[in-house]
Amino acid sequence: MAKRRVAILISGRGSNMTALIEAAKAQDFPAEIVLVLSNIAGAAGLAKASEAGIETATIESKPFGKDREAFERKLQDTLVAHNIELVCLAGFLRLLTPWFVRQWDGRMINIHPALLPSYKGLHTHERALADGVKIHGATVHFVVPEMDSGPIVMQGAVAVLDNDTPDTLAARVLGVEHRIYPDSLRLVASGNARLANGRCVTDAKGSPDDALISPEVI
Ligand code: GRF
Repeated sequence: MAKRRVAILISGRGSNMTALIEAAKAQDFPAEIVLVLSNIAGAAGLAKASEAGIETATIESKPFGKDREAFERKLQDTLVAHNIELVCLAGFLRLLTPWFVRQWDGRMINIHPALLPSYKGLHTHERALADGVKIHGATVHFVVPEMDSGPIVMQGAVAVLDNDTPDTLAARVLGVEHRIYPDSLRLVASGNARLANGRCVTDAKGSPDDALISPEVI
């Protein structure tokens, strides 16, 4: 089967982008990363993508000010010109309009650094620590107009430690992100993750006997 053509949208360092690029090198990976697009000129991820031999583009959002749709129309033109079939948001710091989201209905996924539907929005690690939760993590989900919502493709969890800071917790969650984003793209691109009645279903199963219990009593 032909590989699905994927664009990754970034605004920053692009560590999830790198994880996707690395995974897509595998011969049996069902997607190829054909474009990395940033709304911020000079985003660190752009250089990493170029080094990996991936075409990059920058469409600055700032000059468009509040006219989000005008920015997105330019974005859309670029994606269409590259025959993009799937979009991965990877630290893309833009709220998307319903118009743009509709163009990619069921074909755009995002990674969020929390176990949704908990901790939508920003500063997820700080908020999780302030609440004293014992398990935290990351979520890959299909994008819908409502922010940080949409059918969940995959989640990964980590234990929260008493001495965690937002930075140490973020680092541990990021490790999980780099595992679940490539795996999620594999599922979505192969067609083995489908939308059904507003949820994402797949033949891939969790491990029914595994449980992450935190804290562990010894
Ligand atoms: C990640 O924590 C991701 O979950 C969030 O933005 C951050 C992007 O980091 N959406 P990176 O640019 O992939 O390193």
